[in-house]
Amino acid sequence: MRVRFRIWRQDNARVKGGFRDYEVDGLNEDMSLLEALDHLNEQLVLRDEKVVAFEYDCREGICGQCGVFVNGRAHGPHANMTTCQLHLRSFADGDTITIEPWRAAAFPVIKDLIVDRSAFDRIIRQGGYISAKTGTAPEANAIPVGKEVADRAMDAAACIGCGACVATCKNSSAALFTAAKINHLNTLPQGKPEQHRRVSDMVQQMEEEGFGHCSFTGACEVECPEGISVANIAEMNARYLKAKLFG
Ligand code: FES
Repeated sequence: MRVRFRIWRQDNARVKGGFRDYEVDGLNEDMSLLEALDHLNEQLVLRDEKVVAFEYDCREGICGQCGVFVNGRAHGPHANMTTCQLHLRSFADGDTITIEPWRAAAFPVIKDLIVDRSAFDRIIRQGGYISAKTGTAPEANAIPVGKEVADRAMDAAACIGCGACVATCKNSSAALFTAAKINHLNTLPQGKPEQHRRVSDMVQQMEEEGFGHCSFTGACEVECPEGISVANIAEMNARYLKAKLFG
């Protein structure tokens, strides 16, 4: 199988980037897109050219590190799929595959396809945890959690923090990510003691990071590989109002 990769190359956020085309042969449809990029990089090394920088960790759809635009869509053409799960069988022999980094002011390009998503880390630092005294872990069933509550918390907890929601949103809003992280913890009894502080501080940090406002277009839910619902954003807004009134 042979494809043409059209890949965004950029040395850092201070210089302009641009697309470069690479003809890559010797591929097969069972290779993942990232394996095809590995193959391209091996050829670039042999030609003494700079390799394409791209990010990944698990390559199993778990860690959220691998996000890029593939042919104009976050994580490529399929719903509920991360870039690392995308295989060449989704393309035809001879296709041109365009790959770009996430586009958002709050995610500056580090190099080529890698962007700096540390803004997400700073939001998490404001409340994406539960304060607990250290010591022996409590017995898992010490605090009973109803199935409906557990299901809602786990649905929010499915967010892998890849950034597709931000990159896809026309406003570059991080509302879906922030809402998922807040609702995951605020839904559970263990998260209740800090619920008002958590939502206030995390929303404030989100705004300070330069993300845009949510205008409920729903694009984030469509492109989220975990299918996180925009209902989480409405829930976050209600929690925020409650925190301001009663927190
Ligand atoms: S590399 Fe971990 S989700 Fe893709």
